[in-house]
Amino acid sequence: MEKHVHVFHHPLIQHKLGIIREESTGPKEFRELVNEIAKLMAYEITLDLPLTDVTVQTPVAKTTVKRLSGKKLGIVPIMRAGLGMVDGILSLIPVAKVGHIGLYRDPETLEAIEYYAKLPEDAGERELIVVDPMLATGGSASAALTAIKKRGAKNIKFLCLISVKEGIDRIHQDHPDVPIYTGAIDPGLNEKSYIDPGFGDAGDRLFGTK
Ligand code: URA
Repeated sequence: MEKHVHVFHHPLIQHKLGIIREESTGPKEFRELVNEIAKLMAYEITLDLPLTDVTVQTPVAKTTVKRLSGKKLGIVPIMRAGLGMVDGILSLIPVAKVGHIGLYRDPETLEAIEYYAKLPEDAGERELIVVDPMLATGGSASAALTAIKKRGAKNIKFLCLISVKEGIDRIHQDHPDVPIYTGAIDPGLNEKSYIDPGFGDAGDRLFGTK
């Protein structure tokens, strides 16, 4: 299967990413920008949604217009940081259903352990956009994708703000069917597995917990 990584080069996405990387950007602005970037990314990844013709009556005449042809979408944030991208995407696609996946890292084994999972009942019929701002080692993202597929999902896109090659390779290896969409591919990880230069702990910066 062809490996798919798409990097968004849109100037607005790149500009806003540059601002959230700055240490001095506080939680309010950080949150707003993460949602704005997620919305712009959602606009780009929905460019190929199928349309259908329907007839409507304008105040003047009957005419044929385009409507989305009923493709069902879903957003699945990986908690906690993925939550920061949901509202931005929903503002563009308000009919999307939202599932949630929660994972924590076992401090002994470093394995990603699932603590919460709730997906739309018809997950198997939906195109799911799994979101997490950072794709670092790929350990949690891969475990989240496994958990989501276990519940029937077949058609999944992975959307992140920034990534590194290590995480991309991990997803390609474990989930070759899942295309990755990212705003940047950073040079690497530091000794604490933070993306370098990255933008620090995405959850802490979103929720002001540090
Ligand atoms: N998760 C984060 O929040 N930040 C990183 O740099 C890597 C993973």
